[in-house]
Amino acid sequence: MSARTRRVESILDAVGNTPLVRLHHIGRETPDVKIYLKLEYANPGGSVKDRPALQMMRDALADGRLTKDKILIDSTSGNTGVAYSLYGAALGIKVCLVMPSNVSQARKDITRAFGTELVFSDPMEGSDGAIRLCQQMVAENPERYFHSNQYANPSNPRAHYLGTAPEILEQVGHEITHFVAGLGTSGTAMGCTRRLHEHTRKIHCVAAEPAEALHGLEGLKHMASSIVPPIYDAKVPDEIMPVGTEAGWDMADRLAEEEGLHVGHSTGANVYAATQLAKRIGKGCVVTIACDRGDRYFAPMRWEKHHEW
Ligand SMILES: Cc1ncc(COP(=O)(O)O)c(C=O)c1O
Repeated sequence: MSARTRRVESILDAVGNTPLVRLHHIGRETPDVKIYLKLEYANPGGSVKDRPALQMMRDALADGRLTKDKILIDSTSGNTGVAYSLYGAALGIKVCLVMPSNVSQARKDITRAFGTELVFSDPMEGSDGAIRLCQQMVAENPERYFHSNQYANPSNPRAHYLGTAPEILEQVGHEITHFVAGLGTSGTAMGCTRRLHEHTRKIHCVAAEPAEALHGLEGLKHMASSIVPPIYDAKVPDEIMPVGTEAGWDMADRLAEEEGLHVGHSTGANVYAATQLAKRIGKGCVVTIACDRGDRYFAPMRWEKHHEW
């Protein structure tokens, strides 16, 4: 039985074992470079944050930082919040999320569907404002909360070190020459890069970063103008490649139209960086990450018990 058709005891066991898809059309200008996309959106919560959210919960439950009478709290603009909410529900752990009030209605509705409590921060302060408000709530009530703190929690990159990267190596073997991951909390880039650097052959690992401070690549951070995540170490990637918002958005459109992969804009940025690398190297094998699906950014349909017709 293949990993994807297996029977599982709980939704927790359905995390990981995501497909790796060759991009035949996007890569046609560079036929001697194979470009592969690892579909982290195939996780139960629909994103690259499923593995780290579950790892952070499991590690904290294992060493007693998290117990069933505590509330898991964190600041998140979306995908991590969906993942905490889903796995919190499955594990019987209460979840509270702090997010800027202007995040999409869909994000609010998806997380609330799992019974999660939402607290809103000033929309003008962006994700950094949510980080600050969350820190303040924990400082005022330390016994009540387990602050998962995805920006500082080593279990975040560990999930990719133990899961995502070994799967990539299993799926492409020795073929892989280059790897690209976008920088948000930096968990994916840090964890995968550290593991890929341990491989017997040199794998050149690139971190894709928004080129501008004000950008539209949801999930990614422009480090120079942001609170730098404590788990981020600029010395880990072999290269940091800036990607413009338009380039990321255009590539997301192309992935839907040419490959049948409807992805979010951070994935567009990752694949754009992969194509730039492909042009530069001429021959090789580049692997990058599909962080989430495009429909996560669509407006929600009504989902209410009572309708007025
Ligand atoms: C859509 C999307 N893309 C990319 C990322 C970046 O991943 P990481 O936090 O591992 O750097 C995130 C993280 O929140 C995300 O939600």
